[in-house]
Amino acid sequence: MSKPEVGIIMGSQSDLEVMSEAAEVLEELGVEIEVTVVSAHRTPHRMVEYAEKARERGLRVIIAGAGGAAHLPGMVASITTLPVIGVPVKSRNSIDGWDSVLSILQMPGGIPVATVALNGSKNAGILAAEIIGSFDAGVAERLQKYKDKLKEKVEKSAKELESHSWRGKPIGFK
Ligand code: RP5
Repeated sequence: MSKPEVGIIMGSQSDLEVMSEAAEVLEELGVEIEVTVVSAHRTPHRMVEYAEKARERGLRVIIAGAGGAAHLPGMVASITTLPVIGVPVKSRNSIDGWDSVLSILQMPGGIPVATVALNGSKNAGILAAEIIGSFDAGVAERLQKYKDKLKEKVEKSAKELESHSWRGKPIGFK
């Protein structure tokens, strides 16, 4: 087995249901991953060690998910020069999700976190694959096929819808 290129970390095991979507799409795209729990508040030293060693261990991208007072992605980004993708999680300690979103999104100048939508871990996985795909032709090719499939799916459903009428009126455009 080759070395993981994308590290998926989360503040708690309770984030796993959301974060597993990133793992699944990366596996589908043939990108090697590792998955673990690293908490900014409960295991700060583990977080520092993870972020400090990430590059020398061979990781290329880190996806970090957390909810509520979601400091993990920003803190990891403050330590490593690897790109960090942040996933705001609507966790049980989150008021309405906005706390998670804003904690990850509103980073100070100099320390970016590429923040995806609330619970948007699938897109975090795709974005990580796109970063890997910028220098790995195999991953880029699989991403292209993935996007082609999305396009075909929408075109198929548009055709199906347009084969009917809506309250006697034609659907679609020419
Ligand atoms: C955050 O607090 C974690 O990332 C998780 O989203 C949330 C709740 O954690 P648990 O209390 O479920 O462990 O730090």
